[in-house]
Amino acid sequence: MTARGAGAGPGTGPRASGFGITDLPRIVRGRGSYLYDVDGKRYVDGSGGPAVFSVGHAHPDINAAILRQLENIAYGYRYLFTSSALESLTALLLALCGPGYRHVVYSGSGSEANEAALKIALQHFYCRGLPQKRRFIARERSWHGNTLGALSVSGFAERRRAFEGSLLDVAFVSAANAYRPPEGIGADGLAAHFAAELDAKIRELGPDTVAAFVFEPIVGAAGGVVPAPPGYVRAIEAVCRRHDVLLIADEVMCGSGRSGRFRTLEHDGVCADLMTIAKGLAGGYIPLAATLCTPAVAAPIFSEAGAFQTGHTFSGHTAACAAGLAVQELIEREQLIERVRVRGESFQSEMRAALARYDEVGDVRGRGYFIGIELIAERQSRRPFPRQRGLSAEVGRRGFEDGLICYPCAGNVDGTHGDTIIIAPPYNASDAELEEILTKLTRAVGAALERR
Ligand SMILES: Cc1ncc(COP(=O)(O)O)c(C=O)c1O
Repeated sequence: MTARGAGAGPGTGPRASGFGITDLPRIVRGRGSYLYDVDGKRYVDGSGGPAVFSVGHAHPDINAAILRQLENIAYGYRYLFTSSALESLTALLLALCGPGYRHVVYSGSGSEANEAALKIALQHFYCRGLPQKRRFIARERSWHGNTLGALSVSGFAERRRAFEGSLLDVAFVSAANAYRPPEGIGADGLAAHFAAELDAKIRELGPDTVAAFVFEPIVGAAGGVVPAPPGYVRAIEAVCRRHDVLLIADEVMCGSGRSGRFRTLEHDGVCADLMTIAKGLAGGYIPLAATLCTPAVAAPIFSEAGAFQTGHTFSGHTAACAAGLAVQELIEREQLIERVRVRGESFQSEMRAALARYDEVGDVRGRGYFIGIELIAERQSRRPFPRQRGLSAEVGRRGFEDGLICYPCAGNVDGTHGDTIIIAPPYNASDAELEEILTKLTRAVGAALERR
């Protein structure tokens, strides 16, 4: 039995699915890379929902760790207690992130983690006697979350529209997308071009008014997996340093190992002043997110105010920390980040080869187990399909019918048009499971394209 008609029940409203799957089946069970609905239908998890399930579903070690924690105590309030789950997770995260980071603030979602990063940046300058540094700069075609602050720094027109007028006055610079570069700029010139644009924006606003620049090292849903062009991160880091502007890396989706390094910016040899992680951190077992910062960011706050002025009732929830610890220990024990780094490259090549038969597959890109497929109407101009065609949603729907979970995203080109599909399997998916994802994805793309 499925949940047909459940939208009329108490406490539920009309269901709007961005993927166009309106008649949602009821989920009952997960095992490894598979999910099962109430009718017994099996789905292979090709995207972990939105890149969440880093180690698959119902892993016995993780469930056992959570249960052990619950049997002792679910949660110790952060102003009264610490816990060994929280302390061990913090020590592990700091070790994984390298010597640059010294402080971790926990929360329950990527939006909250970004909200905390924005607030810590503001508090940092306030405590340094620079309270006029209040402005944020972010990028077009980005997504940082659904709270008002995180939404304010998000360049996602469709998701902002209903809230315009009540959002923070954030300045935006261009998306840094090598597949859709600014006119007249070649691949070699991209990093310098975007750095110059950021530099000009900071000068226009006045460096003494700008607190931070926020960006996703690999853009997720808003771009369909867009890695930064080579040299970009170092170039914008230099601009930020020059103007005493903090660099905030939103690794909510691309971080926690998904790119083949624990931190995505490890690939670039850069340590942002603040970094946020969430989805893969506790792998969907219990909501958990974190904001990390360097000693230089924290020092004036600790000396002037004593503590970060951010956090929530459930920050550092003990059972959530136990889940995060168990997930990260499993990843370490089974060397899954190495697996993602090595297998990710070949998986991406296999995907490129399998999809090469379709002219409409314009680009296959990404890093590790974070791969984006961009669908286009015309190769020469890279023109997208019209929005009304709903192509990415159609691929998602066809895949879902066939027992594949992928993550279709629309609007990557200009906020309205553009079709991308994100593939983000569990780090411990077997080769046979990866092959199944690929076969079903190829079939779904073909079926969706057939319907003209
Ligand atoms: C890059 C990025 N940042 C922030 C968020 C917001 O996270 P959450 O939905 O957990 O609040 C998301 C969610 O999709 C994301 O992809």
